Formats: sequence, C-alpha cells, structure tokens
Amino acid sequence: MCGIIAYSGNRSATPILLNGLRKLEYRGYDSAGIAIHSNNSIHIYKQEGKVENLVKSIGDYENDSTHMSGNLGIAHTRWATHGPPTTDNAHPHGASASGEEHNIALVHNGIIENYRALKSRLEGEGRVFHSDTDSEALSHLIDSYYDGDLAKAVSTALKEVQGTFGIACLAKADPGKMVVARRGSPIVIGLGDDETIIASDASAIISHTRQVIYLDDNDVAVIQGGKVDIRTLDASPVVRDIADIDWSEDAAEKGGYEHYMLKEIFEQPTAISNSIRGRIDTDRGTSVLAGLQLEPRDIVDLQRLVIIGCGTSMNGGLVGEYAVEDFAGMLSEVEQAAEFRYRNPIVGSKDMVVAISQSGETADTLAAVREAQCKGALVAGLVNVVGSTIARETGRGIYLHAGPEISVASTKAFTCQVSVLLMIALKFARSRRLSHEEGIKIAKEIERIPELVEEVLKQNDHIAKLAEDFVDYDNMFYIGRGYLYPVALEGALKIKEISYIHAEAYHAAELKHGPIALLEESMPVVALLNEGPGKEKTLGNVEECRARKSPVLGVITAGDEEAKINCDWYIEVPASPHYTATITSTVALQLFSYHVARLKGCPIDQPRNLAKSVTVE
Ligand code: AGP
Ligand code: GLU
Repeated sequence: MCGIIAYSGNRSATPILLNGLRKLEYRGYDSAGIAIHSNNSIHIYKQEGKVENLVKSIGDYENDSTHMSGNLGIAHTRWATHGPPTTDNAHPHGASASGEEHNIALVHNGIIENYRALKSRLEGEGRVFHSDTDSEALSHLIDSYYDGDLAKAVSTALKEVQGTFGIACLAKADPGKMVVARRGSPIVIGLGDDETIIASDASAIISHTRQVIYLDDNDVAVIQGGKVDIRTLDASPVVRDIADIDWSEDAAEKGGYEHYMLKEIFEQPTAISNSIRGRIDTDRGTSVLAGLQLEPRDIVDLQRLVIIGCGTSMNGGLVGEYAVEDFAGMLSEVEQAAEFRYRNPIVGSKDMVVAISQSGETADTLAAVREAQCKGALVAGLVNVVGSTIARETGRGIYLHAGPEISVASTKAFTCQVSVLLMIALKFARSRRLSHEEGIKIAKEIERIPELVEEVLKQNDHIAKLAEDFVDYDNMFYIGRGYLYPVALEGALKIKEISYIHAEAYHAAELKHGPIALLEESMPVVALLNEGPGKEKTLGNVEECRARKSPVLGVITAGDEEAKINCDWYIEVPASPHYTATITSTVALQLFSYHVARLKGCPIDQPRNLAKSVTVE
C-alpha cells in the first residue's frame, strides 16, 4: 500500500524524507514524489517507478540551496487507485487557481469517492488539473478554501470529502507549518526534539523517535517544528495518547536473511511465544485474554462467534471456526469481510464478531467491523499493528505481538492468529462444558507450538531441495480435510502470491466432484496427510491422484511410513493434535513456497500487483 512521510523541524527535510520513503517501500507502491518548502516556494519532484528513480531525478540536492534546502517537506509512495501509475499521477499534487506556482501541496493515502463531482465543480471555477487522480481534486479543494489559515482550509475541504484519507499538506505562504489529517488511512506522528516526523506507519519513524501519536479518524493536526496541535474537523481540541514503540530498529530490517519473508518465517517460534506469553494458564487449563474484556458469564451468554477477515487472515479465521466448534461446542463461522459487509448479515447482541487483520487497516475488514457494530454485535480485533484503526475502532481485542511483518506475504501473522484463536476457543470452551482436565491438555498443547515450529524449521534445507522439482510447474492442487483444509487454502495462497504458480485448494473429498478432471503429470498435488481424523480418506485421494499420474507432495507426521511410500515427495512435521498441526503444516508450506519462489527468481517481499495492506475497498 502507499505511504506518507513528512517533516517539520530544524534539519534539512530532503534526506529525511528520501530515507523515509525507502523505509516505506515494503508497503508496495508504483511511484513516488517529494515536495520541499524552500525559499518561500514549494518545489515538487515526482517519478513513476521506484524511489531511486525519484532520487535520480532530484539530482544533487545537497548543493541545491534554491529548491531543496528547506526544513519542511512531504513525500509519498503511491499505490494507484484512480489513474495509472504515471509521473503526473504521482503525488504530491500542487494546486493554485492560476495553475502557476504551487500555493498548496498535498500527499494523500486513500480514496476520495466523490472526487468527480468535486473535480467538475473546481474545473468549472477555472482550475486546471494535471492528473487523473482523485487526490488532485482534494489539493485544489483545499486551495480553493485557503485564505491564510491552512488548518481551516483543510478542515473545510475534508468536510466535503466522502471516502478515506491520510494526508499531509503544505502552503506556500505558511513556511514551517504542515497540516495532517486522517480518515481510514493511518497517520502516525513522531515526536522529536524541536521537530516532528509524520508517516503512514512507525517503521519510517523509529530511526528518529519512539514517541508517537496515532491520529484517530477525523483528527486534524497542525505541525510546526516540535509543536503538535490536534483538533477535530470542527476545530475542537483533542488529546491523543503518546505511545512508545517497543520495536528495535533492526526488527524491521532483514536481520541477515535474504528476504523479509524468510526472516519472518524463522521468527515464528519467538513471535508465537510472544503471542502466547502471559495468556495460557496450564494450572487452570484455560487462557487469559484480558483484552477481550469478557468475564466467563459474558461468554456464556454469547451464542455464536463470527470471524471476519481477508486473505490469509480469513484462512486463519477458518481454523478458529473449527476450534471454537470443536473445543466449545459453540456456533462459529468465518466470512470474507467484504462479503460480510455487503450481504446485510444477520448478527446481533448475542454474537461476538472477531475481526482478524495483521495490518489493522484493511478497508474491507474495517468496513465489516463498522457494520457489525451497527448491528449491535460485540466486536473485537485480532490485530498485529498496535494503534491501528481496527484495533482502535473495535476498542477491545488481542494484539498478536508478532512484531513488524514486512513481507507482503503473511507468515508469522497467520501462525500467531491461529495461536490466539486456539486460546480464544479454549477460553470459550472452559466457560462451557470443557473439563479442567481437558483444558489443561489443550493449554499444554498450545504452549508446545513454538517448539513444534522449531522442529519444522529444521526441515528448511530438505524443503529447499525438493522445491527444485517444482519451479517449472504452472499449476498445482492443494488438498486437506478438517482442520487441515484451511492449511490447504493458505498453502495455495502462499505459492500463488510469491511464485505466481496457479494453485487451487480443495477439500480432499471434493476432488472427485470435478477437479479430478485436471489431474495429469503436469498437475502436482500437495496433500495434508498429518495423522488424525480423515487421514486414511485423504490417503485414498492421494492414490486417486497418483493413479492419474499427478505427482504428490505429502505433508506428513514424522515417521509415518505408510504416507511416505504413497508420496513422491514428503515433508515431515512433528506429531501433534490436528489443531496445532495447522500451524506446523503451514510453516512447512511457507518454506516450500518461499524456496520455489526464490528458485524462480521472483521478487518475494514485494510480489507484483500486491500490497501489504489493502486500505482501499
Ligand atoms: C496474505 O499473504 C496477503 N498478504 C493478504 O491476503 C492479506 O492476508 C490480506 O490482505 C489481509 O491483510 P490484513 O491481515 O492486514 O487485514
Ligand atoms: N487514490 C489516490 C491515487 O490513486 C491515492 C492512492 C494511494 O493511497 O496511494 O493517487
């Protein structure tokens, strides 16, 4: 997704902004730009493609005292929603009635849904547009209200805006001052010594300061050097908490791995330990999830747990659905967030809705949260990014504590989500018919997950080797049953998104209802064959596949000799109940996908067309 970095202080803004853009590259983008307030003018540079293209176009800024010596600036990486990725469509967007000097410069994350009406009105007033974007309309709209008070012009304009925004804005006549605001796209304010750094997320700020403020929707902040004044759109003062970022800076770097994805796969024992820490009670055989703000009697009154999410988060949610029904005998269902939001769902006060989102900014999931709240459900977030919109709007929930997940392909977030969902299922079960003794068993199995994952990671070299046999395939099937069906879904998503091999996941029993027509030597099948319910049936499906010459890669329980002789390749994971085998098998398939993509030379951390956080609907 796009990114914003902005600076006001006593240092030269240009190097701070360019380095900030580099820190934001991981979010996925297609163009970049910068605006510096220098010598009483606003100077804008922007380029299609990578940040380095922009750096080249700026040239020797250190010796360009005319254009680039200012200590106030804004910068942007764009992920196009309106208008193709071109230099003209890149941000910042300048605006003035005459179309000459830039009176105003704006960078924007999000979508202005009513931009066409605004744009035609502004063109009718004689304004000339230079891009196809929705954002430029906002730039002109602010300029049309600007009479010397930038905050007032921004607030007046934003009141007319329908849609989402995270913005930073400068005015030529207002040296040293910038105005930022947000609705639906995050804005983080980094508090420095006589300086302020603004960004879309903290990873671009932590090299300067760890003291941050997360704006809420419809907050407008006036920034001048180290001074920060936050108000509502109606100019009422508001006070926002100052948070301390506890990430180490190298936690957001690659840590010696070739890709962020591999680093994050190997971080999973630690990440899962952090997710579990202080939340599992093996004496009482339950979990301690204070963030849910629910007493057992509140849980008893709930009739259903509805889980919403997108992509990997939805796949993790499906494991949660199975566990809640299995452990607690309670109704549960998972739904794609956009589908939930638009189908007028039947939810109410007897339902708890858990919104799963690593970024906490996914627009579809945020919209579904708001719909569930509107219908009176109890809504909680299961989020990784502290202070993110979904975390704050749900007002209750559980942080993953997985640490920053930089690679677009989600790995540790999934396994941490599942770990937390298992703890939620355990807590709900113990408020119902699950016995103390059974609760202790499950609590101890959850506690074992990090060591189980450590065992799987030892298979890395073996998996890297067998991945060599898959680089030339164009299509694959993934099959699983029960708890392992979500693993098939997640495994297929992972290999699709980073190696571009087309992969489909099916319930193992579904193959014979049509997909079996596609089985042939060029269609390998990945089969989840862990010991447990349904394994023999899935083994039968494997034989059906091989009878049609489809080669089979089995993810099997270590030492399962029967499975080994029925597979062309296999990856062994340690013996564990199916509900934790979801995590061990997924880690095996994460490594498999990673090595296939690596061998294919794919841009693993930033796959084509993908963004880390989809903040547009
Ligand atoms: C998963 O690898 C993808 N990056 C994508 O499916 C992602 O899980 C989805 O966009 C949801 O993101 P979220 O968890 O941040 O809401
Ligand atoms: N909607 C704006 C555009 O297409 C901003 C996109 C983004 O968030 O980067 O330029």
